Amino acid sequence: MSLTGSLRTTKRRMENALTPATYAEGDMDILTKLKKEHREVQLLLTELVNSETASERKSLLRQIKQALVPHSRAEEKVVYDAVRALRDRDARQDGEEGYLEHGLADRMLATLGKSSAASVEFAAAAKVLRELLNHHIREEESNIWSDVKDNFSDEEREQMNRDFESAKKKVKIPA
Ligand SMILES: [Fe+2]
Ligand SMILES: [Fe+2]
Repeated sequence: MSLTGSLRTTKRRMENALTPATYAEGDMDILTKLKKEHREVQLLLTELVNSETASERKSLLRQIKQALVPHSRAEEKVVYDAVRALRDRDARQDGEEGYLEHGLADRMLATLGKSSAASVEFAAAAKVLRELLNHHIREEESNIWSDVKDNFSDEEREQMNRDFESAKKKVKIPA
């Protein structure tokens, strides 16, 4: 592990050790967890768009896939499917829209994976992915989140977070 990598791990361990038991991962509201992961992936996307070397781009693409793919699959299963099962027509449409946008993001990831990391095609696809996800996250945090807040209790949202965590563990990341 690189020096920065091990420093980061140490920092994370210290943060975890300092987190009171009442704020254990499983007790978190699903929306708090999703927001945290959105910010992480948005940061990586900005780094990807600004990166210029092929090796840096490859490493960032790998990190983005590892963060985004489990997030998206688990979110579909735990959040979108719950919203699609509601009676409210707008909520059901929000869930459908989320699935479609995740599909577009998957396609951009596949395009990035096939492009040479030094190429203009890669740079273009990185920008498109960032724009797409910034739009997606903005809408998700306003529309889907209102659907979740209006229809699920605090306890249900904590349970959703636990389900989200276990669903993420089962996701296979495509090469
Ligand atoms: Fe999300
Ligand atoms: Fe999403």
